[in-house]
Amino acid sequence: MGALHPLHLLCLILSVLAITTTAHNITAMLAPFPDYSLFNSYLSQTKLADEINSRQTLTVLALNNAAMSALAAKHPLSVIKNALRLHVLLDYYDPQKLHQISKGTTLTTTLYQTTGNAPGNLGFVNITDLKGGKVGFGSAAPGSKLDSTYTKSVKSIPYNISVIEIDAPIIAPGILTAPAPSASDVNITALLEKAGCKTFASLIISSGVIKVYQSAIEKGLTLFAPSDMAFKAPGTPDLSKLTNAELVSLLQYHALTGYTPIGTLKTTKDPISTLATNGAGKYDLRVETAGDEVTLKTGVDSSRIATTVLDSTPLCIFTVDSLLLPAELFGKSPSPAPAPEPVSSPSPAPVVSPSPAPVSEAPASVASPPAPPMETQTPEGAPSDAPTATSENATSDNAAADMKAPAFAFLVTVSATVLGSIWLS
Ligand SMILES: *[C@@H]1O[C@H](CO)[C@@H](O)[C@H](O)[C@H]1NC(C)=O
Ligand SMILES: *[C@@H]1O[C@H](CO)[C@@H](O)[C@H](O)[C@H]1NC(C)=O
Ligand SMILES: *[C@@H]1O[C@H](CO)[C@@H](O)[C@H](O)[C@H]1NC(C)=O
Ligand SMILES: *[C@@H]1O[C@H](CO)[C@@H](O)[C@H](O)[C@H]1NC(C)=O
Ligand SMILES: *[C@@H]1O[C@H](CO)[C@@H](O)[C@H](O)[C@H]1NC(C)=O
Repeated sequence: MGALHPLHLLCLILSVLAITTTAHNITAMLAPFPDYSLFNSYLSQTKLADEINSRQTLTVLALNNAAMSALAAKHPLSVIKNALRLHVLLDYYDPQKLHQISKGTTLTTTLYQTTGNAPGNLGFVNITDLKGGKVGFGSAAPGSKLDSTYTKSVKSIPYNISVIEIDAPIIAPGILTAPAPSASDVNITALLEKAGCKTFASLIISSGVIKVYQSAIEKGLTLFAPSDMAFKAPGTPDLSKLTNAELVSLLQYHALTGYTPIGTLKTTKDPISTLATNGAGKYDLRVETAGDEVTLKTGVDSSRIATTVLDSTPLCIFTVDSLLLPAELFGKSPSPAPAPEPVSSPSPAPVVSPSPAPVSEAPASVASPPAPPMETQTPEGAPSDAPTATSENATSDNAAADMKAPAFAFLVTVSATVLGSIWLS
């Protein structure tokens, strides 16, 4: 009846703001538990931590150090990543909910399913309430056993994220034995051609930038490949007017050092360096996320990330809708300036190098420390070498996330407005 006291309103608004602006941080959640330090470390190394943090409703099936080291011992990071993806359920299960599964058994979606590389039931986990209060977990693939058992709850934030311990890893058939070609075996241009980026592929070959990319793979590489449509779009600059050095810079601008999957991009707030970066703040990119849509901003134009061609540590390849036009080349004048560098900047940054710059000159990406060195990697459990274009909205879960985002933005806006009027009154 009585009007809400302004202070109460303020508290309410602040708590709404806190919820909407702070996502969970799985690394911090697991940090107090030394039993899961190896598991936690692998979540970070594979960048699954970013993927987890960028999602709303999850259950993480944690493995203790003994179970995790057994899983990690014999496999490259790309295989470990797929195995761990199966340990992130896209639904909320705390101990109470585990024991209330209707009919005592259910199949639940995992992060592995969202890769688009999990045929049949491989991306699902079977949870079954067993006799004597035990809960069993196993791959949903036909004929799989429920070899993992729930042991305890580690931490939960109802109904957003629950971390529970299981006693053994869940292994889907074939997940550990996927062919693992060495990083240098990946044919980048072949993948790009198949993904509808023939123009970009031919440019990186003719300019020699492909060699720069190839020598960067081992330490981690992320490519943003403009589609063939992007090169034909109205307003796209005439690349034949660029000098060789400028073309090289432009192509290097479409790559980052470091393995940076979509979940990591979504949690990136600072500008990121590219392979073209030759001084602080030069040739960098900003990332904007709205729901599941990730957009790269150059300062001149912006481009949506359209598909994931490959996400396999240490290499990520995305397609983008438009060419990324760096301000350093396309900033002021409508056509690229013939001068080597705009003189407006007082910084002592070196000018664009005239030949394909050695990779070592590019500072490591701010957002992603180089992935640990590894011997082999694989197209993430893909049965053939054909890349599966992974749409970000492959699951209904993503659709739900899409719908939540604008609602949150609205809440924040409304709260900020009300907050402003309280201060004013
Ligand atoms: C998550 O927590 C870890 C450890 O506390 C911290 O290093 C990291 O910066 C945090 N990440 C985010 C996105 O806040
Ligand atoms: C889960 O696995 C058990 C044992 O293999 C099986 O009996 C059950 O039908 C499976 N549950 C579902 C929902 O498929
Ligand atoms: C969990 O997420 C929902 C939105 O999905 C939000 O309304 C709720 O406040 C969150 N709870 C906590 C404890 O963060
Ligand atoms: C990569 O694939 C292309 C065809 O897309 C082929 O022309 C080229 O020879 C291949 N490179 C290697 C090293 O196999
Ligand atoms: C993704 O969503 C868009 C619109 O929301 C739809 O047009 C498109 O077909 C969806 N793609 C997939 C693979 O589900």
